[in-house]
Amino acid sequence: MIIAPSILSADFARLAEEVAAVEKAGADWIHVDVMDGAFVPNITIGQPVVRALRKVTELPLDVHLMVEDPGRYVDEFVEAGSDWLTVHAEACTHLHRCLQQIRAAGAKAGVSLNPATPLSVIEHVLDEVDLVLIMSVNPGFGGQKFIPEALNKIRMLKMMLADEGRDDVLIQVDGGVGPANIGEIAKAGAGAVVAGNAVFSQDDYAVPIKQMKQAAAQIA
Ligand code: DX5
Ligand code: ZN
Repeated sequence: MIIAPSILSADFARLAEEVAAVEKAGADWIHVDVMDGAFVPNITIGQPVVRALRKVTELPLDVHLMVEDPGRYVDEFVEAGSDWLTVHAEACTHLHRCLQQIRAAGAKAGVSLNPATPLSVIEHVLDEVDLVLIMSVNPGFGGQKFIPEALNKIRMLKMMLADEGRDDVLIQVDGGVGPANIGEIAKAGAGAVVAGNAVFSQDDYAVPIKQMKQAAAQIA
């Protein structure tokens, strides 16, 4: 199970230290939540922060774009150092083109679905995808409660990928994930999770990361 702490819940004034701390604590990726105040009701950070983080960590940067018309920014975010770049299906008029653009720029392409969005919207773009991000909260804020229906969606996505011969596509889950529910998330078929509050609310970041790894491993 790939664990990606979301820096949305980190102390932004000490970002380099926070990233070093989760890296030391066993994080696999660093999840960067980019919000534009239009697609979601919150504003966070942009490509300068990705560029700055690129200099202070070797871990893959997993950048989650919660912005309208993300194609406008794909090249800049990849150039800044994103290894994985995920866009929302709901935010792209031309989703297929946007995913192709991410790969052409040199990053792994992810597509994300809000809780209310059906899996059918990605049925015809799977050839262009390396990762599918199932949102288990409505995006915009950290620290929200996991929506249990996401588990059904993960199971259905797992079947859909198997049917298409695309078991290589990574299923990632974001929102309200922690040691208490990662077992059922892993069992449903996820191979990667994002965790903000569950990691950064603890004094020792290694504790929740280790608990999540152990709980996920018990399932496998
Ligand atoms: C939600 C973001 C998440 C968020 C997760 O809009 O995409 O990545 O930071 O935070 P927690 O784990 O606290 O729900
Ligand atoms: Zn996110």
